[in-house]
Amino acid sequence: MTEPTSPLAPTSASRADQKPAPAGVKTAPPCTLVIFGAGGDLTKRLLTPSLYSLSDQGLLDDGFKVIGVDRVQQDDAAWRKALGDTLQSFTKDRTAEFYTPRIDEKAWGWLSDRLSYLSGDFSQSDTFEKIKAAVGDGPVIFYLAVAARFFATIVEGLGSAGLLKQTDKAFRRVVIEKPFGSDLPSAQALNANILKQADESQIFRIDHFLGKETVQSILAMRFANGMFEPTWRREYIDSIQITAAETVGVEGRGAFYEPTGALRDMVPNHLFSLMSMVAMDPPPSFDAEDVRTEKARLAKAIRPIPPENAVRGRYAAGETAGQPANGYRQEPGVVADSRTETYVALKLEIDNWRWAGVPFYLRTGKRMAGRGTEIAVHYRPAPYQMFRDTPVETLTPNIVRLLLDPEHGVKTQFLAKRPGPEMKLGAVASTMMYQDFFDERPSVGYETLLYDCMIGDATLFQRADAIEASWAAVQPVLDAWAQGGEPEAYPAGSQGPAGADTLLARDGRAWLKVGEDEEKPEGMAEDRPPSIKNLVLGSDRT
Ligand code: BG6
Repeated sequence: MTEPTSPLAPTSASRADQKPAPAGVKTAPPCTLVIFGAGGDLTKRLLTPSLYSLSDQGLLDDGFKVIGVDRVQQDDAAWRKALGDTLQSFTKDRTAEFYTPRIDEKAWGWLSDRLSYLSGDFSQSDTFEKIKAAVGDGPVIFYLAVAARFFATIVEGLGSAGLLKQTDKAFRRVVIEKPFGSDLPSAQALNANILKQADESQIFRIDHFLGKETVQSILAMRFANGMFEPTWRREYIDSIQITAAETVGVEGRGAFYEPTGALRDMVPNHLFSLMSMVAMDPPPSFDAEDVRTEKARLAKAIRPIPPENAVRGRYAAGETAGQPANGYRQEPGVVADSRTETYVALKLEIDNWRWAGVPFYLRTGKRMAGRGTEIAVHYRPAPYQMFRDTPVETLTPNIVRLLLDPEHGVKTQFLAKRPGPEMKLGAVASTMMYQDFFDERPSVGYETLLYDCMIGDATLFQRADAIEASWAAVQPVLDAWAQGGEPEAYPAGSQGPAGADTLLARDGRAWLKVGEDEEKPEGMAEDRPPSIKNLVLGSDRT
């Protein structure tokens, strides 16, 4: 429950009062950001905090402005106030994605002065004429923060009004939210429609997981260190688990979620993005096209998933954080005989030289026992022969766990000798948490993506071919599920459906537990943390 907050006072500030951009980081070039869906949740909860953050870091140019477009009739002042109030409410809500103890009035005032509102229907040509008059001939980013059914209509409206014609001095870019299509044919049709109006280089298909700092650092971890990459392949790796577990339910989004479900909502976009970061081959450079080409190559190497390698679940009534929680079918906007899944687990195979034979197990679900997004790389066990005449019965495999959200770090699990006369082993872990080494600022993941779009860097955005390849991989499962059948029930607050455990047990493997730390090694003192204390060798903390 959030406490009432005092509204942000309207102030006027110029860039001269602003913090300078961090050393070595360029202020984004001047542009107008036109947000379709200005009254929506995404704009309030994610885009505004990100723009505020960019303003607070001095990364926006004095020539930056925002035009919000939506159907509701309201004036600039009312829109600014609504956004300011939501932003302010985050200072009292520690569970908010953008929790921050205080909002800097100057940074907000600078941004708020640049917000204006235009009411209009996305399907009417006069809306686009009004936008044309408002943006003039300068550089513009059109952000489609709207339901997917409006994507093609808006891009067509922009194209017909001549708003997508670029000049040397003025770029015209379109940011498109997910879900990009609802299956392979619809994604192909959407791509074909929008590419009639604009060039691929103007289209920025967003996946906010790629804006998360920890997700971007996967590439740095893999490619800036000599110790991971040489072993990052089928010769050494047994399997990879990718998990995005949530404790929340559908939270009033029933109308969106009913026709979507966990597979479409999370897999071909977010989970496949994580998979591409962890599994793609090293690109020759960090150039956007080099990186996107490697990601697309990876997506094209995913073998279409046979339906027997997919498990769907739906949460039933249970308990979350000690409180009773409804089942999905009792949620507002959900029909009582809904067949929509709120959980999915998949086994994937990547048919290339690096990964052939290494299963990738992916799972995501709402109302699970814990919240956590992570990638766990399980190594093959070491040869046992040397331990034959010791009390050691098995060698448990090493696991490198990339903790992406809400914990940010890397945890390496391995075996060590227990002190004592005999050769006995204990499972230990060494953990690097980003906060111990670097200053972290509140971020919702959209900051980087908005900034990158302004500077024209498409590295973290999805290219048409990669999106289509991702849908192609899940299409057999969508087809099979459309034929009938039901998701398997799991109690709210649990590990998910039993079928997901069977999926791995079939291969002699098991999921890491959600919401629980790994077990302490047998015999370890209760008060001893199951991790080796970090030695802080260097840090940029001041
Ligand atoms: C969104 C999905 O794209 O990602 C939501 O539509 C999901 O259903 C959310 O809850 C998860 O994102 P995050 O950043 O909170 O892990």
